[in-house]
Amino acid sequence: MSEHLTVVDHPLVQHKLTLMRDKGTSTAGFRRLLRELTQLLAYEVTREMPLTTTNVETPMEEMQAPILAGKKLALVSILRAGNGMLDGVLELIPSARVGFVGLYRDEETLKPVQYYFKAPEGLQDRLVIAVDPMLATGNSSAAAIDLLKQAGANNIRFLCLLAAPEGVARMKEAHPDVPIVTASLDRELNDKGYIMPGLGDAGDRMFGTK
Ligand code: URA
Repeated sequence: MSEHLTVVDHPLVQHKLTLMRDKGTSTAGFRRLLRELTQLLAYEVTREMPLTTTNVETPMEEMQAPILAGKKLALVSILRAGNGMLDGVLELIPSARVGFVGLYRDEETLKPVQYYFKAPEGLQDRLVIAVDPMLATGNSSAAAIDLLKQAGANNIRFLCLLAAPEGVARMKEAHPDVPIVTASLDRELNDKGYIMPGLGDAGDRMFGTK
């Protein structure tokens, strides 16, 4: 992917995102839309996966047909909201390996601190797609990518639903080699770190915790 930021402007993506932004959308509706929208975004973020060919016998004749090459991709959820995007990608790519990164913000230093990290083996040979619905300040996303790189990943994409300009700038500074795919680049962050106009707290909305 040559672009650092790709905003997927497909009409279905934009329509579903509007429904997710609506504060009247139920938890069940939000979850379903998140799964559907993630699938559409996953289509875009995997566009450049390498192909090889295999011999296949159709009912008519044999042919050389394209098939995905190399190791299975690794999907990495940035906890906890990233988990809401796993199902959508896994429905499309059921053989993907899955990892998790857990970070919390230290109240004194305000820096992200790792509390959980589990990644599939052989990250260096896989396309790694890190998922988190909201790219807000970009601090935890950049820290999560740091951890993935330390674990050997060298071909990483970042998939989110919404991005703030501040988060995109932070990622570009820290990880210019990691393309971002999103459904929208929103206006700004507010003083509490929420994306505006955004959709609120994605974790709370998908898990019904508030
Ligand atoms: N995380 C969220 O869930 N929402 C925001 O607006 C920003 C970060």
